[in-house]
Amino acid sequence: MCGIVGYIGKKNAYQILIDGLKRLEYRGYDSAGISIINNNSKIVAFKQKGKVSEVESAIDSSEFTGNIGIGHTRWATHGEPNDVNAHPHFDMDENIIIVHNGIIENYKTLQKFLSGEGFTNRSETDTEILANLMNYYYRQTKNFEQAVRNSLNDVEGTYGVACLCAKEPDRIIVARKGSPLMLGVSMEEIIIASDASAIINHTKNVMYLEDGEMAVLTKQGFQLKTIKDEDIYREIQELDFELSEIEKGGFEHFMLKEICEQSDSIQNTYRGRINFDTGVARLGGLEPVMEKILNAKRILITACGTAWHAGLTGEYMLESCARIPVEVDYASEFRYRNPIIYPDDVVFVISQSGETADTLSALREAKNNGATTVGIVNAVGSTIAREVDAGTYIHAGPEIGVASTKAFTCQLMSLTLISMMLAEAKGAMDSENLKRIADEIKMLPEKIQTMIDRREEYKFIAEEFKDARNFLYLGRGYNFPAALEGALKLKEISYIHAEGYPAAEMKHGPIALIDENMPVVFIAPKDKTYDKIISNIEEVKARKGRIISIAFEDDDQIAQYSDFVLRVPKTINILTPIINSIPLQFLAYYIATARGCNVDQPRNLAKSVTVE
Ligand code: G6P
Repeated sequence: MCGIVGYIGKKNAYQILIDGLKRLEYRGYDSAGISIINNNSKIVAFKQKGKVSEVESAIDSSEFTGNIGIGHTRWATHGEPNDVNAHPHFDMDENIIIVHNGIIENYKTLQKFLSGEGFTNRSETDTEILANLMNYYYRQTKNFEQAVRNSLNDVEGTYGVACLCAKEPDRIIVARKGSPLMLGVSMEEIIIASDASAIINHTKNVMYLEDGEMAVLTKQGFQLKTIKDEDIYREIQELDFELSEIEKGGFEHFMLKEICEQSDSIQNTYRGRINFDTGVARLGGLEPVMEKILNAKRILITACGTAWHAGLTGEYMLESCARIPVEVDYASEFRYRNPIIYPDDVVFVISQSGETADTLSALREAKNNGATTVGIVNAVGSTIAREVDAGTYIHAGPEIGVASTKAFTCQLMSLTLISMMLAEAKGAMDSENLKRIADEIKMLPEKIQTMIDRREEYKFIAEEFKDARNFLYLGRGYNFPAALEGALKLKEISYIHAEGYPAAEMKHGPIALIDENMPVVFIAPKDKTYDKIISNIEEVKARKGRIISIAFEDDDQIAQYSDFVLRVPKTINILTPIINSIPLQFLAYYIATARGCNVDQPRNLAKSVTVE
């Protein structure tokens, strides 16, 4: 959700800011802008609606020479995407200019106060009000740092903010509350970014700002403080991924690259965590809270979007393997419905980015109620990862495509490992069964690779269905959440309306939609509900729906009921959602590309939603 970048050092800031914005563009891409303190110590700024590349072509870069600057790529919250609402925003006197992620919740009260003081606005954004507030305090204090501090103390809501001041042109001030911000620190320069992808090509040494902190950056270094003016010292950390991991590596889109990485990413999730001789899984990060989990009467899982689908699958896994009752909640609902949380509850929080505002709020709600919290997170060092009591990283590697793919399957793998670990510790599963799961996990990367290698098969079907207006995805048991996720992938990137349902539930409503124009994707592994699924397929067939089945390679029945069959390697029940997700991802990808959609930057979406 919105990207912030900043630079202070000896190099020309312009290209560094533009390159940083391009790397952050997956977080928001309706408008962009930059501001630089030029060589005459004057602030220059440019912003407009559209992609970073369009901003780059429109800018006269010769005016943007200087080695201090900030930039922003926007995902609109207050005010439609247009040139005026784009960031950065100047205050009325054009003394302070800021880029901001998050939402200033009390902006109306502040605006009323400021208009009483003679301040006017050009845009419809809450950000401009914050800029005006800073300058209101600057007029009083004649001190940039004090002005920023006073303003932030007046603000309710969330912010990641980077600010320049015309009257103090040697510095950038940054601050954070609820919206991630980090500094990439090297001997001669500091890069500011809302996530590591804009920093990794400069340095691996980073420092994360915590909520309620601000930093004053000059060419000599930086000073970290709280917004209450207390000094802070924090160690620099090292980023744990390589630049190549966030580049496309010859693939047309990040999404395709990430789908094709899943053989490796799945291995990275389980590497070193399973003893294949005994079938015992161990996640070191969970050890500190194992006692609590084993004594918990229930596990609550909370997440958003794709991670919520992983959570739903986790419910099936944990209940069936470890026999612990599980409840799954959308983080946004969990947070606001005054949930009943007992101190002996364990709350699992699943998040790719580790920064989703609703998920973070749900985590804090759980903690405030005394529950034990466990994170299942991809982004190392992210806010959720830092705030949970214990947790496990899924090690999917950086995920740039807005539609989550490899993070989903790695979340499923993590939940499988957790289920195995708890099943063993609780004695809920015998070693033979655990070993069987472990054996199957070992074969999973190769099986995934076979599907990736023959992805052209999925492309052919996509051509056939690219003009459909609706899609239905049906599955049962472990594959009901996989159906939800398959439908979500399609609608996110192709804008075709799609719904997922438990297959048996179709009779209670969605069946009314079925006619010869309705493609229905059935996820039909040979498990104990297979015959029921076949009956559901027949019900759709009788109403002339077009059937696309996802079935095991050796299923010799399914073809007679289906118009198309996407074959997947055979595996055990618990691993079928991982296997079945691969063709579902390809189907969505190829349909979207056949329709000419920008799959890496689908309209209105953002990779990481850091506002509630
Ligand atoms: C956004 C993304 C989704 C993602 C969801 C939760 O909506 O577009 O792909 O599943 O946020 O994100 P998280 O980072 O918490 O997993």
